[in-house]
Amino acid sequence: MKTENGSVRLGLIGCGFIGRKHLEAARELSDARFVGIADLDRTLLDEVATTFAIDRTTTRADELIEAPDIDGIVVALPTGVRTSIARRVLESGKHLLVEKPVAMNAGEVEELISLQGDRVAACCSSRFRFMALAAVARSALAEGKIGRLRTIRVEALSPPPANRPENPPAWRLSHRLNGGGILVNWGSYDLDFLLGILDWAFTPINATARTFPVPTLYADWIAPGSDAETHVIAQVNSADGVVLDYERAEFHPGPSVFSWSISGDRGTLTFSPGANPVELILVSADDTGALKSVSLGQEILDHDVLHAGPVTDFVRSIRTGRPPMTSLRNALTAAKITDAIYGSAANDGRQQEITRKEPK
Ligand SMILES: NC(=O)c1ccc[n+]([C@@H]2O[C@H](COP(=O)([O-])OP(=O)(O)OC[C@H]3O[C@@H](n4cnc5c(N)ncnc54)[C@H](O)[C@@H]3O)[C@@H](O)[C@H]2O)c1
Repeated sequence: MKTENGSVRLGLIGCGFIGRKHLEAARELSDARFVGIADLDRTLLDEVATTFAIDRTTTRADELIEAPDIDGIVVALPTGVRTSIARRVLESGKHLLVEKPVAMNAGEVEELISLQGDRVAACCSSRFRFMALAAVARSALAEGKIGRLRTIRVEALSPPPANRPENPPAWRLSHRLNGGGILVNWGSYDLDFLLGILDWAFTPINATARTFPVPTLYADWIAPGSDAETHVIAQVNSADGVVLDYERAEFHPGPSVFSWSISGDRGTLTFSPGANPVELILVSADDTGALKSVSLGQEILDHDVLHAGPVTDFVRSIRTGRPPMTSLRNALTAAKITDAIYGSAANDGRQQEITRKEPK
């Protein structure tokens, strides 16, 4: 699809918290602009249109999807209502950027891939890979600094916030509206980050997992009607024997723990994304077996950079034809892992197989 004078014309569907972050990010782009926005909430729409000086507003997403003068659409809606709209975006011949998690399940992602054709179709789960340290970690792994990959461990446990959250969104911990709880809210980022820095060279074959609801003590700290987990623990095996050991929790009655490591037969890469600055440390063995620890860098997490990453990258992909940071095909791997974790947890922790069939 061609763009007008090389400038990419974007539409935004969903003007909530993250939709507005996309609009802010695009203000900094010289080669793209949002020309239309849609939301069901007319008051919000008008407010956002004024803030970002956008003339075209609509409560009907299809008006943007059908507009001939829009090249690409960012769908920043809660997951439960996103895929049907994303499908129509691809059917209309436009490029697509979807929020994270990529969809409600892997089947929905496969359906979108089947409609993609020659368009760019990307997912915002890439957000944390716009940290400079992600590229450093990726290079260290690609250069074989840890040797042959063996294990990937993530332990990310957050205690309850100091005060009860006011008006937590209804979708956030809802299977029906969001596809799940903390596993899709944070796990979509975690899996994207880990698989992305490994250049997606992790083919999952099965998973065993348990999920836990919010501790009763904090039951009224989450939105009424929430039914999804606030704690997940899982083991995922890959086709070549690599093990991903994954635990994420919020409202966890314990200290804050953020510990990530990727180990091979010659070394280990560790970092603590919960700390600020984040530090990436490589411990590796020389040919005598002696271990040496070096810092590969420190980075203060800049949320503006993270929020701007996906839309900036989307525009670059449309303009240059190079693949986006996280394509739908990449995100499908994370969706398959997520499905298998939920499948195992729903089946008393029994092993859940993961199909290796590639979508057409
Ligand atoms: N809140 C965050 O920190 C954050 C960060 C990154 C990604 N996300 C992801 O982005 C998605 C949206 O999150 P959010 O925090 O922006 O939610 P939000 O509730 O703030 O905004 C969602 C918006 O979508 C609108 N909407 C719902 N259905 C619609 C439809 N059919 N047509 C048009 N508009 C519709 C709502 O009116 C609302 O304004 C979620 O999947 C979430 O996981 C959220």
